[in-house]
Amino acid sequence: MKIEEYLKAVEEKIKFWIDELGDEYISEIFSSIKSGKMVRSQLMFLISKDEKMVALSAVIELIHLASLLHDDVIDDAEQRRGVPSVHATEGSKVSIMLGDILYSKAFVELGSYSETIIKDIANGVVKLSMGEIADVNLSKEFNSDENLYLNMIYNKTASLIEVACRVSAIHSGKDGVKFGEYGKWLGMAFQIIDDILDIVSTSEELGKPAMNDFIEGKTTLPYIYLYKEAPHLREKVKSFHLKTLSEDEQEWIKEQFEESGSLEKAMDLAIEFSEKAIKNLEKENGELLDIVQNLIERKK
Ligand code: FPP
Ligand code: MG
Repeated sequence: MKIEEYLKAVEEKIKFWIDELGDEYISEIFSSIKSGKMVRSQLMFLISKDEKMVALSAVIELIHLASLLHDDVIDDAEQRRGVPSVHATEGSKVSIMLGDILYSKAFVELGSYSETIIKDIANGVVKLSMGEIADVNLSKEFNSDENLYLNMIYNKTASLIEVACRVSAIHSGKDGVKFGEYGKWLGMAFQIIDDILDIVSTSEELGKPAMNDFIEGKTTLPYIYLYKEAPHLREKVKSFHLKTLSEDEQEWIKEQFEESGSLEKAMDLAIEFSEKAIKNLEKENGELLDIVQNLIERKK
């Protein structure tokens, strides 16, 4: 089976489960959600090389989708993947409850797996939610603590990727520890690069407003490094926190990122983490190595 066929099968499985609920309205809003890159499913397939993993991938994708439906309410986001979010079209109440449905349906389907896998995934969702709370709380004020940021992105993003990799390894008789570590460090690099792209990419490329993290209060790694590297700019940078910036202000801050080398420093850490991910791979895992390479080179 080719990876494209596998991802299509995962999408079809999810659609089948949603339609099975027998509610036209739910099927309709669900079909308005644009597909993403399905990174977690790609990893699960490449680790297991087993088409029997389709349903478990569908479980992970449903949980991920549920978290995004909730996240768009929390972040008050109008757009997701280049189209209006469910939060924008149907309102926050529907977005939350559709998230609850997807999440619960995922756990109904997860019920037929082993206790190890169920507990691992359930713990992943606990971390995901703890990470989101940390993100919300850290966004209230300018955060200059790198460790708090790293801990938050581990929970918010890396934990579910780690779990997806580990359970697909375990379920296909491979090394859960190694592939879990691979997923963890890949997830860390993934989120740092996401945070860099918020600054360097255009809104068209991102499918959501660019330079938006800081407006939402999120002091991502490049901002933390800018604060560290340029003490004379601290007051001015802090004064931009949680504000909608003018074009000139955005340009100014982008210049400071360049001059201080803070974007580069953030990228260096992402590369360091991706190398930690690669260390867990064997020669025959070439495609998983490519995923790391594409992640580092991605533009959106
Ligand atoms: C996107 O982050 C959000 C996440 C990766 C996780 C959100 C997790 C929750 C809302 C908890 C979910 C709980 C359950 C029960 C499913 P972001 O806002 O940095 O990225 P974005 O720009 O893509 O929105
Ligand atoms: Mg968000």
